[in-house]
Amino acid sequence: MGIRSLVRGCGAYLPERIVTNDELAARLDTSDAWIVQRTGIRQRHIAAEGETTSDLATHAAERALEAASLAGADLDLIVLATATPDHTFPATAANVQARLGMRRGAAFDVQAVCTGFIYALSVADNAIRAGQAKRALVIGAETFSRILDWNDRGTCVLFGDGAGALVLEAVPDDGGLARGILSTHLHSDGTGYRLLYVDGGPSTTGLAGHLRMEGREIFRHAVARLAEVVDEALTANRLDAGAVDWLVPHQANLRIIDAMRKRLGLPTEKVVITIDRHANTSAASVPLALAEASADGRIRPGQLVLMEAMGGGLTWGAALARW
Ligand code: UT7
Repeated sequence: MGIRSLVRGCGAYLPERIVTNDELAARLDTSDAWIVQRTGIRQRHIAAEGETTSDLATHAAERALEAASLAGADLDLIVLATATPDHTFPATAANVQARLGMRRGAAFDVQAVCTGFIYALSVADNAIRAGQAKRALVIGAETFSRILDWNDRGTCVLFGDGAGALVLEAVPDDGGLARGILSTHLHSDGTGYRLLYVDGGPSTTGLAGHLRMEGREIFRHAVARLAEVVDEALTANRLDAGAVDWLVPHQANLRIIDAMRKRLGLPTEKVVITIDRHANTSAASVPLALAEASADGRIRPGQLVLMEAMGGGLTWGAALARW
């Protein structure tokens, strides 16, 4: 009998300050109507001065641990997905580990930008299945506001700050449709490196840099690659789209989310949407949506949850879980 990772609890944290589209339109050549029509975004949360990715991550992690009735000392692994770490090194996860009172096991970051949470979930799930960890914390946390060019209307209106976290626990796999993470599917294609990147870093400019994106190209890739990877996830588990109770997509553009929903033939009621309030929070978007929909009772134990994301790299991936 093998081992599977059961989701024990979720948590989320959003910075207090909300910035509306109208506030951006007051100082940029854009409008609430354009942003809503093209993206579905109405507002975003922005971290306060001095509030860091590890701050957001620690708050989300504390809430996930509370939901799981566990303490930091019960964990033996933290995998934190971020493209906006506090420092070049050590890993932001190390800071979170210390603040949670976890003094053993391992804590490290993974970097797959907007697909980061799916990558982190896959790494943690594999560690649990391999018997390397019994209880793992998976976090997606970002402060994209720090790497945006606030004069570029093509990018700065799209992103927000936030964090989400999941606690996974090893349980015996009794076969069939047992609860837990069913499978994860990761992909990357580095030939798309320049389509979505930050024009800085320790080894190039020495500065943090700003996000640059070929929006239309990314959009095109997202629709095609996400369709492939959700099919791959369903096929691997011999499941039809009709079996999906909840689609929890990366929240980059409501039009991309809707294309996936239609392809799967799901009604809008089965899709968890946060983009209107959170904008694109990169690696935090899927766990933020999971935390929201499990806290308000939408996602219930035993239900089938399909997660997907696509981002810089290019990277893309999907995960299926029986909640
Ligand atoms: O999370 C990682 C993955 N990221 C994504 O998935 C993002 C994918 N891309 C997108 O979501 C969309 O491409 C955008 C939302 C970024 C842009 O939407 P679009 O429908 O592809 O617009 P566009 O880039 O083709 O631009 C259309 C027009 C342009 O003007 P012209 O050249 O037609 O005169 C832009 O200059 O809209 C203009 N525009 C804006 N206008 C008002 C671009 N940004 C803005 C803005 N406000 N903020």
